[in-house]
Amino acid sequence: MKTLLVIAHPRRSSLTGQAADAFREAAQVNGHAFELADLAQEQFDPVLREADEPNWNDPEKVYSEDVRREMQRVERNDATVIVFPVYWWSMPALLKGWIDRVWNNGWAYGARKFPHQRVWMIGVAGGLPDSFAKRGYDTAIQTQLDVGILDYCGVRERRLQLLHGSIEGDDYPTQILTQARALGAEF
Ligand SMILES: Cc1cc2nc3c(=O)[nH]c(=O)nc-3n(C[C@H](O)[C@H](O)[C@H](O)COP(=O)(O)O)c2cc1C
Repeated sequence: MKTLLVIAHPRRSSLTGQAADAFREAAQVNGHAFELADLAQEQFDPVLREADEPNWNDPEKVYSEDVRREMQRVERNDATVIVFPVYWWSMPALLKGWIDRVWNNGWAYGARKFPHQRVWMIGVAGGLPDSFAKRGYDTAIQTQLDVGILDYCGVRERRLQLLHGSIEGDDYPTQILTQARALGAEF
């Protein structure tokens, strides 16, 4: 499957970047091919301005050139995998802005649905599962990202997977990279 691999981390050498590489390497063994979208390195502007504001009465609205280029990048692939660090029990503003602008009315929801059946989101989290469960952040992030975005945009083969313990866990990089590799093999 031709897959757009979106990374939303300020540093390519980060654990998040390494997890994306581990996922990609394992998936390539099964014949998947990847196009990389490193939003920070590309200096993607996450602020939704007037040109990309949805017009609820016009699903055919033509968005900004930047957004049309991003849409084409999605369209020339068959699946999307998004790898990001968990910030404030959610995604970084950089990625949120990519979704705000690109997953727009008439293209990802409304008159049309997101072009891909398969979208996986992989979040690298500093905390362990227990600290997420303690205050309900585990179900909150699932509802927000998996239901609120992927399901809302009609993605059938959707998945939100958190790789926990990048800060709190012991031997965290190894475990997170092992999990990322296993996910890639499963993709
Ligand atoms: C602004 C900010 C907010 C964060 N919020 C959370 C959080 O809500 N929950 C959590 O588990 N980790 C949080 N973290 C930790 C990141 O998830 C952690 O930096 C990342 O998993 C480590 O991977 P990296 O080396 O790729 O950055 C936050 C980090 C930053 C910089």
